[in-house]
Amino acid sequence: MKQHIYLIGFMGTGKTTISHKLRELTGAKEIDMDAWIVEKNALSINEMFEKYGETYFRDRETDAVCEIAKSAPAIVSCGGGAVLRQENTQMMKESGRIVLLTATPETVYQRVKNSTDRPLLNGHMNVEYIASLMEKRRALYAGACDISVSTDGKTPEQIAMEILAAA
Ligand code: S3P
Repeated sequence: MKQHIYLIGFMGTGKTTISHKLRELTGAKEIDMDAWIVEKNALSINEMFEKYGETYFRDRETDAVCEIAKSAPAIVSCGGGAVLRQENTQMMKESGRIVLLTATPETVYQRVKNSTDRPLLNGHMNVEYIASLMEKRRALYAGACDISVSTDGKTPEQIAMEILAAA
C-alpha cells in the first residue's frame, strides 16, 4: 500500500470490523485511532471525557491524526469524530484515501446498544438521539470522504471487497 486507507463514519458503522477484514485480505498494517489515543495518554476514552472534557479528547485526537498521517501506510480505523476538525480531515486527505462507512440509525443502535465506552451516547442510548447526531454530522462525513460504502445488510467480506475495488 502506498498510502493510508482511513475508515471514517459514525460510531457503530463497522470501522473496526472492516479494518480487521481489510488486514486479513491485504496483509496491510492496521491502526486503531482510539486505541492509539488510549495508549499514548494512558487513560480510557471515558476517563478523558469525564476528567478533562471533550475538547481535551479532541486535542488528543488531532495529535493522533498528525502522528498517524506521518507514519507508514496502514488501514486506519478512525474515531467517529475524527473529521469534526477540518485540520484533521486535511491531514488525512493529504496522506491517504478516506472511506466513509454508513449505516442507518437503527443498525447503529443495534450495534452499539450494549457499549459502555462511548461517552457521547451515555444517557442517550436510543435511535432518536443517534439519528439526530448522525444528521448533524452528515455533511461533514460526505464532504470528507473519497468513497462512501453502505454497510446495512452486508457481510464484512462484501464491504471490504467493495472498498478494495474502489480504493
Ligand atoms: C466518537 C467516537 C468514538 C470515540 C469517541 C468519540 C465520536 O469512536 O472516538 O467516543 O465523536 O463519534 P468510535 O466511532 O470508534 O466508536
